[in-house]
Amino acid sequence: MTHTDEINAATSGTFRIGGDLEVVRLGFGAMRITGPGIWGDPEDPEEARRVLRRLPELGINFIDTADSYGPFVSEQLIADTLFPYPRGMVIATKGGLTRSGPNAWPPLGRPEYLRQCVEMSLRRLRLERIDLYQLHRIDPKVPLEEQLGVLRDMQQEGKIRHIGLSEVSVEQIEAARQLVQVTTVQNLYNLENRRSEAVLAYCEREGIGFIPWYPLATGKLAQPGGALDAIAQRLAATPSQVALAWLLRRSPVMLPIPGTSRVRHLEENTRAASLRLSTEDYEALSALSG
Ligand SMILES: NC(=O)c1ccc[n+]([C@@H]2O[C@H](COP(=O)([O-])OP(=O)(O)OC[C@H]3O[C@@H](n4cnc5c(N)ncnc54)[C@H](OP(=O)(O)O)[C@@H]3O)[C@@H](O)[C@H]2O)c1
Repeated sequence: MTHTDEINAATSGTFRIGGDLEVVRLGFGAMRITGPGIWGDPEDPEEARRVLRRLPELGINFIDTADSYGPFVSEQLIADTLFPYPRGMVIATKGGLTRSGPNAWPPLGRPEYLRQCVEMSLRRLRLERIDLYQLHRIDPKVPLEEQLGVLRDMQQEGKIRHIGLSEVSVEQIEAARQLVQVTTVQNLYNLENRRSEAVLAYCEREGIGFIPWYPLATGKLAQPGGALDAIAQRLAATPSQVALAWLLRRSPVMLPIPGTSRVRHLEENTRAASLRLSTEDYEALSALSG
């Protein structure tokens, strides 16, 4: 194990989304720079801006957001703080969920609504083209051809570069690939919750980026005296860092996007990029489950 003092996300390596959009694998999830229930403004907007300004300094060039975070607050803060964006900064956003209150996220995949989502994200983010646009959820009430058809149209219009999916099964990815090139999949996945193993294996085989959301969740694994805690203590690291280091080693297509509203946590998480797990520790962690 090596754990250098340098904080640089680039030590996590890079991945090419869609074969041509290179990002540093350890990214940032911008859902937490909003209010409680992912609703409204963050409790400390100045600290949220400091977090965003720190990203390029730490070598992070992949930000994940969504129109529904706030709603609109996360995209707005990113643009207000970082525009004009540093060279190479990739902002991935999502659409297809409505917000009816704190913690409420009903999906809406009508094509006219998705078109509006893309247009409004372009305006808020002050972009002419969105590098990675992810369908936040497939709406079961709307034919998949209509949901992905409008994103494909907007790709042809030059408003979207790459298309991604979120919370999908292998079958859904395969159905989507009949309609568009699927470049990323964003599913819940972390040390404790591995229900997306089959999707991860599929993405790895097909060269699709896999973006694990809720990457830091370690639940009871991290309890004092637990296996994760023991490994973290031995490596002079925190459970969050070990969880991220495990994800980064788990697959070359893995693109973790830990989220935080605090610079201190951002720096701590970014140090995971240079935390190398021994094969023995990696295998011991892989054997853990929730
Ligand atoms: N596609 C989807 O459906 C979906 C769903 C959920 C999330 N996401 C995306 O995935 C990203 C990550 O997911 P997430 O934010 O739910 O989970 P996460 O990144 O695993 O955890 C974030 C939580 O952990 C805390 N935290 C961060 N760093 C920490 C540290 N070093 N020590 C202790 N606590 C720490 C944060 O609070 P502090 O602010 O206090 O640091 C926050 O409450 C989101 O930002 C979003 O972009 C996508």
